Amino acid sequence: MPLPSVKSIPDATRQINVVGASGGIGRALVACLLDRFPRARIAATHHRGDIPFEHDRIAWQRLDIRDPGAIAAWSSRFGQVDWLLNCAGYLHGEAGGPEKNIRSLEADFLLENLRVNTLPTLLLAKHFSAPLKKSGSPILATISARVGSIEDNRLGGWYSYRISKAALNMALKTLSIEWQHSHPRGCVAALHPGTNDTRMSKPFQAGVNPQQLFNPEYTASRLVKLLSQLDPGQSGNFWTWDGARLPW
Ligand SMILES: NC(=O)c1ccc[n+]([C@@H]2O[C@H](COP(=O)([O-])OP(=O)(O)OC[C@H]3O[C@@H](n4cnc5c(N)ncnc54)[C@H](OP(=O)(O)O)[C@@H]3O)[C@@H](O)[C@H]2O)c1
Repeated sequence: MPLPSVKSIPDATRQINVVGASGGIGRALVACLLDRFPRARIAATHHRGDIPFEHDRIAWQRLDIRDPGAIAAWSSRFGQVDWLLNCAGYLHGEAGGPEKNIRSLEADFLLENLRVNTLPTLLLAKHFSAPLKKSGSPILATISARVGSIEDNRLGGWYSYRISKAALNMALKTLSIEWQHSHPRGCVAALHPGTNDTRMSKPFQAGVNPQQLFNPEYTASRLVKLLSQLDPGQSGNFWTWDGARLPW
């Protein structure tokens, strides 16, 4: 499917907030946004590590997105936010890794996936509702994953990650319906970035065709292009990095 029709490029003084900007895709997205919008102010969050890089137009904030109070406190610093982009995510870590079969399912791992991949977008939507409403064309977008598509699920496995991303997708779709009334000039989007060479995908890259393993800089540039072209009529969709639509 072709990219949606080209819309005017957003003004260069906008406020863009990027959550999970210390990750592979998040960091590349911030670098791309700095380049693409030379006067935009960016507020970016990191989590466990240090600030990834300094820049006079970036205000960094350490944020654990599992902490509702911390999200509320961060949101209270902003009058207007134009784009709110969530790039944080969880696939494997101390709580475990993706399940090959139902016997491997562990409650704590499933709940950790929901805590990181699902709930934060809802909390961000709640606490940034007012700052986004002040924008002329607000966007709230979260990086989901194709494996969160129920219709596209042909391989099975990865219960916790799939479930958390499918629930995220439902959250975004539901929010888009509320925004038709509350933020009629806005757009809500779920984004699939393709398979990217990041820390998250490292343990699972063996079977990936090298041509389909993207570097995050490429993905970031495609996502910024896509976001720049979205309008309210396209709200509530699940997009791939190249502007194609995915089934929910
Ligand atoms: N890479 C792929 O092939 C691929 C494919 C499909 C979808 N995605 C999605 O793309 C998004 C970005 O992934 P990536 O590839 O860039 O992975 P990544 O390099 O591992 O980055 C993930 C980011 O999420 C942050 N994060 C995790 N838990 C957090 C928490 N509790 N609070 C705040 N931040 C937290 C991480 O920070 P810390 O490390 O400091 O915790 C890191 O900045 C994710 O939503 C992922 O599901 C990726």
